[in-house]
Amino acid sequence: MNDKNIKLIVASTGGSGSGYLMRLFYHLLSVSGETHWMASDNFFTVMDSEYGFNFANIPFGICTNELTDKLSEVYSINKKNVYHKFYRHDYRDISAAPSSGSVFFDAMIVLPCSMKTLGAIAGGVSSNLIERSADVSLKERRKLILVPRETPYNLIHLENMRLLTLANAVILPASPGFYHHPETLNDIYDFIVDRLFAHVGIEKRAIKAWDEK
Ligand SMILES: Cc1cc2nc3c(=O)[nH]c(=O)nc-3n(C[C@H](O)[C@H](O)[C@H](O)COP(=O)(O)O)c2cc1C
Repeated sequence: MNDKNIKLIVASTGGSGSGYLMRLFYHLLSVSGETHWMASDNFFTVMDSEYGFNFANIPFGICTNELTDKLSEVYSINKKNVYHKFYRHDYRDISAAPSSGSVFFDAMIVLPCSMKTLGAIAGGVSSNLIERSADVSLKERRKLILVPRETPYNLIHLENMRLLTLANAVILPASPGFYHHPETLNDIYDFIVDRLFAHVGIEKRAIKAWDEK
């Protein structure tokens, strides 16, 4: 269990890499705090094509049990060690809590982050709860971490990422390292989860640090 009650927004869009999100949620279960999660329709389309497995039936509102049950289909989870609360918001609901700067969150992670949503955030377009929450995170000077998977990048992607970096967002591409000698896909996903935890201030490690080898 972590010593700090972290309060996160996690938004998922139609980029490839839903496995990273599954591992993020899996590791968050044992971290004390709460996550407010929202996902675009395109996220579910891509997740379905990647896993034949979907989070679409996770209900809106408090959904810790349902999410834990879903994750239990692929990972071994001891429910006694779950210290994290999950809420799901409808990404069309721009009146939900994360859309207001008056509601405090420690950080927002967009994982996976499509280039479409990245471009919308860079353009200040707040047309749904994901884009609005990201806009609020920037205006409130809170940590915003975008995890794109696209490759290669065109000039528009790069310029959007440059602008977002100037606006204080962190671009944390799903570019796993291999120096921790991954043996499974989960080991590869965990590399990115570990970097995310370090950036949002969660002490738990998802992989061993380089100097612990
Ligand atoms: C199987 C599949 C994989 C995709 N992977 C990516 C990707 O890695 N990066 C990306 O920017 N878009 C990707 N897309 C395209 C986005 O889903 C598309 O641009 C969509 O409009 C994004 O909308 P959203 O940001 O509202 O979810 C993919 C689409 C499909 C069907």
